[in-house]
Amino acid sequence: MTYSRIVGTGRYLPERIMTNADLEKIVDTSDEWIRTRTGVERRHVCAEDQTTSDMCIEAAKVAMDDAGVTPEDIDMVITGTTTPDLIFPNISTIIQHKLGIPACTAFSLEAACTGFIYALTTADKFIKAGEAKCALVMGAECITKLIDWSDRNTCVLFGDGAGAVILKSSDKPGIISCHLGADGQYKDLLYYPFGASKNLAAAGTDAGKIMMTGNDVFKVAVKKLGQIASETLEDAGVTKEELDWLVPHQANIRIIQAMAKRLDMPMEKVILTVQDHGNTSAASVPMALDVGIRDGRLKPGQLILMEAFGGGFTWGSVLMRL
Ligand code: ACO
Repeated sequence: MTYSRIVGTGRYLPERIMTNADLEKIVDTSDEWIRTRTGVERRHVCAEDQTTSDMCIEAAKVAMDDAGVTPEDIDMVITGTTTPDLIFPNISTIIQHKLGIPACTAFSLEAACTGFIYALTTADKFIKAGEAKCALVMGAECITKLIDWSDRNTCVLFGDGAGAVILKSSDKPGIISCHLGADGQYKDLLYYPFGASKNLAAAGTDAGKIMMTGNDVFKVAVKKLGQIASETLEDAGVTKEELDWLVPHQANIRIIQAMAKRLDMPMEKVILTVQDHGNTSAASVPMALDVGIRDGRLKPGQLILMEAFGGGFTWGSVLMRL
């Protein structure tokens, strides 16, 4: 049996940091409101001329170095992102070429905040099927470029960044169980009002603004994430007591606390980056994974549950041994 296993990780965060105090100067908000409702204290914001692929390339170089692989070793590139550089060519082809990776399967997945979990699950299937041996898998977002900085409901939540992993074929797991879900009936609770085929004029007064009904998103997120975590554990025949770590999507500290409670996990077993990164959408899980591995909390052999939830809605989880 062939499995896939994460053998290297990396992250990149843009230089510029925006604190809650900076936001107090822009919109009618307070550090206290943002901290208590969301857990966010600061977020990184990309430069005007910086693109998602620029950030991916930096994160990928660190992950490749960590894994000890060269560009020639990589035979698949997948990026989970909602903010690619261009409509086409695909962002993964830009990254593949700039990193000097020989021609290979390269594409992106757009599943909002669940993008990395979808990308990792897809790469796992390719490796298990014997169609790839060494994949570069990323979650990355320049989401602040979609933000209306006068809308206090959304501008305090988000940040930019990129996370990357190297996923290699292995004769032992690695990735144990992946579960994905989506339901478009919730589209109106969280969306961006224009794109390539629905034009700017059709968006009217909502143009340039993330549309979100925050408290309804919150409720569905907790419910769906709880369900998918249970399914993933059941499918793998693993009890929640056996889990060493939860590496969740970093949307909101209260969603994360609710998930930890459902899994009977103390917060000491949860990797938290929301305070420093904000919600970086598809980048949040791979960056949190990298933070936990590099500071020595996540150790080889431990059982880790990663999960995410985002616009669509989409949701997903991956259970793995490091
Ligand atoms: N500063 C001060 N007040 C604010 C701010 C702000 N930045 N934003 C909203 N408010 C006000 C609202 O206007 C409202 O005022 P009102 O009662 O006078 O109308 C009040 O605060 C309460 O608003 P709620 O939306 O009910 O506040 P809630 O406790 O639900 O917190 C939040 C809002 C943080 C958005 C929360 O609902 C949430 O995190 N939801 C999950 C959504 C999410 O994470 N989205 C990110 C993308 S999806 C994903 O990644 C899961």
